[in-house]
Amino acid sequence: MASTGSTPFPKWQLAILLGAPLAIGLGYLYLRNRIEDPERKKVAELKAKTTISLDNEENAKNASESAIEKAMKLKGAGNRAFHGGEYDKAIALYNEAIEACPPDRPIDLATFYQNRSACYEKREMWDQVKEDCTFALKLNEKYVKAFLRRSRAAEKSGDLVLALEDVTSACILERFQVQSSLVNADRILKALGRQHAREALEKRRPVMPSKHFIKTYFSAFSEDPIAKIQIDDKSANGFAKAKKALDTQDYDSVVDACTEEIKADGKYKNEALLLRATFYLLLGRHDDAQADLAKVIHSDASTKVKVNALIKRASLFTQLENTERCLEDFARAAELDHPNSDIYHHRGQVYLLLERMDEATSEFAKAVELNPNFSIAYIQKCYADYRHAQLNKNVNALAQVRSDFDKALEMFPKCAEAYILFAQVLSDQQEWERAESLFNSALSVDPSNATLYVHKGLVQLQKSTDFDKAVKLINKAIEMDDKCDFAYETLGTIEVQRGNLKRSLELFEKAIALAKTELEMTHLFSLKDAAAAQLKVSERWGLDWTVS
Ligand SMILES: *[C@@H]1O[C@H](CO)[C@@H](O)[C@H](O)[C@H]1NC(C)=O
Ligand SMILES: *[C@@H]1O[C@H](CO)[C@@H](O)[C@H](O)[C@H]1NC(C)=O
Ligand SMILES: *[C@@H]1O[C@H](CO)[C@@H](O)[C@H](O)[C@H]1NC(C)=O
Ligand SMILES: *[C@@H]1O[C@H](CO)[C@@H](O)[C@H](O)[C@H]1NC(C)=O
Repeated sequence: MASTGSTPFPKWQLAILLGAPLAIGLGYLYLRNRIEDPERKKVAELKAKTTISLDNEENAKNASESAIEKAMKLKGAGNRAFHGGEYDKAIALYNEAIEACPPDRPIDLATFYQNRSACYEKREMWDQVKEDCTFALKLNEKYVKAFLRRSRAAEKSGDLVLALEDVTSACILERFQVQSSLVNADRILKALGRQHAREALEKRRPVMPSKHFIKTYFSAFSEDPIAKIQIDDKSANGFAKAKKALDTQDYDSVVDACTEEIKADGKYKNEALLLRATFYLLLGRHDDAQADLAKVIHSDASTKVKVNALIKRASLFTQLENTERCLEDFARAAELDHPNSDIYHHRGQVYLLLERMDEATSEFAKAVELNPNFSIAYIQKCYADYRHAQLNKNVNALAQVRSDFDKALEMFPKCAEAYILFAQVLSDQQEWERAESLFNSALSVDPSNATLYVHKGLVQLQKSTDFDKAVKLINKAIEMDDKCDFAYETLGTIEVQRGNLKRSLELFEKAIALAKTELEMTHLFSLKDAAAAQLKVSERWGLDWTVS
């Protein structure tokens, strides 16, 4: 999440870490040649079913031969009309081809329907496209073109579940070798994940995140104007109560106390609005947060308060995937308070998410220059430098990153994140032993952090593809903390890779129930939806993906 300052590898890269192309997390790797045989068998069966046997075989053959010749001619004319842009004429010709086609030529008939659906697609008549593709698929159930076209029509008409199922069928038939289909699958998955995340969030009661999460969230702001305010012990106004609740980690009382200050129009009204907005953000109440932040931004609040509100609103816009407004808020914050390191640190994270590496590295560099003691910013800078160097295949820069990380470990020996990010970089460089030992160091700094066992499991998996060993380590994380969503997500992804799709669905469900942000939920729903679509297609075709 962009605003916590604790994003090591963005989670949606997990699938890439595990070696799957794109972030879909399907069981690509274990697709062997299992599709071949059932395919031939089924096509043969289908042909047998649709072939009508007549008494006089010879006669029938003769008749159907001339009929198919006629149908083919009509189709040829249809194709010419289509390429000439005369879609209505082409539809009429394909209609005739369909009529003329003898019943013992199901594969050809499927083609004619498919041809007609191409015309409907040009006309943007999505229901007709879907209908014709469905006819075609009944006749030829492994017809890639028909799956792809029906997927496009379904996507255009808002039926993302069908769009995903069809593109998944196509990907499987293409053995995940066709880039454009994978890109389509990825796009549909993101949209469907987002849709499911929004639906789930609407139904969900807001829950306060863990104390640890809240602490981490606040630690990502080195210039938090609220933390800097000293309140007289004797004051009993709403804001004083809110501050006290914050200091004693009595987080459930913060919102009400802020509301009291705001209603009383007290001295710290703007600070109370900012703090209340912050808790609305943590609770996932985006609209309420948005309203309070806007009030602060348009008030006469102090610069630090306004800038903090702008940074938080910018991060909210990232979550809502409104990059333009996000960057506007950052630009405004930088105008108001140029030397504020928090602005660059948070903007750097947004660029990192957007994979705009040049900008990310220069933002982090600025954040660190302005505040060299800010450990999180320093480490994020090292990490962004790494991604940048890797992208540009710059060997010297890679060496520099490693020495910067070494320096970070010296400067911030108590900061678990420093070990964790360095370890991730090293495991990315396939230096498993060193990565493992850094994760162990992180565990000695932060022994209660369950996610570290998940990281160790991932190293194990990459080092040896030893699923059982990895699963054991990750299960240890769940033993320590049964709310460790990262563990459920990772296990779910592993089960996809092992072909245990049903089990993976249960695990993704668990992770979804624990997800804190809309972005995270969208990602998890994408994983779950991908697995669900793959399961459905596999059951239809009797495919078994399990790895022994
Ligand atoms: C088969 O077709 C040819 C022309 O294509 C025709 O001359 C012949 O009579 C037909 N035979 C039968 C048995 O219908
Ligand atoms: C009709 O189908 C054939 C065979 O798949 C294909 O070569 C041709 O391009 C199709 N025409 C249109 C208009 O889709
Ligand atoms: C950073 O921390 C060191 C030691 O803790 C301190 O001496 C130095 O003044 C700090 N620098 C800044 C810019 O805060
Ligand atoms: C554990 O480490 C992760 C980094 O992987 C960090 O983001 C998280 O806040 C830590 N959690 C706990 C419970 O200490």
